[in-house]
Amino acid sequence: MSATATHHDIAEEIRDLKKKIDAVILAHYYQEGEIQELADITGDSLKLAREATKVKASTIVFCGVHFMAETAKILNPEKRVLLPDLEAGCSLADSCPADKLGRYQEMLRINGRKFQTVTYINSTAATKALSDWIVTSGNAEEVIRRVPAEFEILFAPDYHLGQYLSEVTGRKMILWNGSCMVHEIFSVQDLLKLKKQKPHAHTIAHPECPANIREHSDFIGGTEAMVKYVGKFAEPTDFLVATEANMMWQLQSKHPQHRYHPVPGVTCACNKCPHMARNTLEKIRDCMVNGHPEITWQPEFDRAKEVLTRSLLNPPPVAAHPAGD
Ligand code: 13P
Repeated sequence: MSATATHHDIAEEIRDLKKKIDAVILAHYYQEGEIQELADITGDSLKLAREATKVKASTIVFCGVHFMAETAKILNPEKRVLLPDLEAGCSLADSCPADKLGRYQEMLRINGRKFQTVTYINSTAATKALSDWIVTSGNAEEVIRRVPAEFEILFAPDYHLGQYLSEVTGRKMILWNGSCMVHEIFSVQDLLKLKKQKPHAHTIAHPECPANIREHSDFIGGTEAMVKYVGKFAEPTDFLVATEANMMWQLQSKHPQHRYHPVPGVTCACNKCPHMARNTLEKIRDCMVNGHPEITWQPEFDRAKEVLTRSLLNPPPVAAHPAGD
């Protein structure tokens, strides 16, 4: 009981601090429900990056992982961007350091390959700065269709997402061998068992899942696409959800008529991202009081800004109808 009261008190403190320091809170769908509840804006990586550019307040408190807060800073240099825990990283970003990507690109060039680099937003700013395009789960197909056909595509760092995108767009890709520690560990045996127990359930999977999970899914999409997909079902429906377990909170709150069941991991029943879990109510309050940890401008942000702006904020104009249409 007292723990609940404490959380309630901290949440109140955070609400007051928002006014006092002129801040808004952005939270990713993988944050604990109590954090999403406090946020002014919740979303997937794409929505949060775009919404960050519309914020009027002088401070953005980013409840997510480092690359997300870094993206918000890059797109809004004049804002103060606070991240409750600087150690909130990402296994995908770690798998593709800029020096390693640069060496690989150089090797491809020496071998006469003509390619463009398409990089998942789950990457560092230095890696983004070496890329031609940045994608999220929400705009990846659209961006890949913008890559001129004469180029091969080097896709980094998520192998499974790249493989999925290659399947749906028909583009051949050179795939980096990275993966998300959360999506990699779903158990296909347990998914099949669950499907047997609930034969009418729909399985929804994030495209970061390996092919053996994707091939047993009825719908594959990023977190925002999942919210939209379940919203199309009017009747109460069972969904087996193959993504980070906190997603269930967002689905439940937007579409409470359904029942959501987490697809278990190989070693546990809940797939929680340990990096996302670093953000707590206490750390949110403390960063607002202390003005720290803050994402500060780095030299590589200038080039990363160009690529991010072109990829996420400037979608191509809708093709004009031919005369007579
Ligand atoms: P979304 O953009 O679909 O929310 O995915 C973010 C992410 O990091 C998945 O692991």
